[in-house]
Amino acid sequence: MSEQIAAKLPAHIGIIMDGNGRWAKLQNKPRIFGHKAGVEAIRSIVKASSKIGIKVLTLYAFSTENWKRPKAEVEGLMSLFSNYLKKEVNELHKNNVCFRIIGEKSMLSGSLVNLIAESEALTKNNTGLVLNIAVNYGGRDEIIWAVKEIARDIALGRMEPEDIDSGMLERHLYTAGLQDPDLIIRTSGELRLSNFLIWQSAYSELWFTDVLWPDFTEAVYMGAINDFQKRKRRYGGV
Ligand code: IPE
Ligand code: IPE
Ligand code: MG
Repeated sequence: MSEQIAAKLPAHIGIIMDGNGRWAKLQNKPRIFGHKAGVEAIRSIVKASSKIGIKVLTLYAFSTENWKRPKAEVEGLMSLFSNYLKKEVNELHKNNVCFRIIGEKSMLSGSLVNLIAESEALTKNNTGLVLNIAVNYGGRDEIIWAVKEIARDIALGRMEPEDIDSGMLERHLYTAGLQDPDLIIRTSGELRLSNFLIWQSAYSELWFTDVLWPDFTEAVYMGAINDFQKRKRRYGGV
């Protein structure tokens, strides 16, 4: 790692891994072929993140809106998640990665929920990279859940409406205790957040590339980090 990279490394990076379907289509293959190739890109980017000392990596894998896709594609994605966990969790553990799923798990299959619980339990005391995978995640749903919990606490007399502030709201988000993403990367040329970390991204630096997710390499990743290091973050100041 160059000294320059060490100097201003983003602590938390979020990635909207997009373009698997188009990648497959370019090769006249079914969409699931692109999702499989996407898993390989995940492996290499997780490794690279650990290697250069990123603290938190949040990968957007399945949105609350992705249930609209054909049933076969949704099922294919769910079985890829299961396979990824079965195959990868020991390696993640060995590399001191703390693995977590963010998103609403109640809509996932019982066996996937169990696998997630086992993987989270196995790696929960690890002190290296925090790897969040966003599955059935939606930023709006996340905020709605937080508001409901706060409303319940008020209804029970545990707090007053005046006690609500951004810190309190953040403690009710899936990302409670983690700092906001410094850098959000989106692949495949789409220029939007698609409901990813909408609260947490208020001051994130955004970085877009036309590269499709299965083609996203460590070199492209380092390019994004390099560009981030040249940005001036002002947070409303001068
Ligand atoms: C991203 O790739 C992966 C998921 C959303 C699950 P897409 O499947 O959205 O690929 P494109 O955008 O159709 O190319
Ligand atoms: C965003 O990609 C969700 C994930 C990468 C998991 P989509 O492909 O679902 O987003 P839109 O539909 O192009 O906005
Ligand atoms: Mg897409």
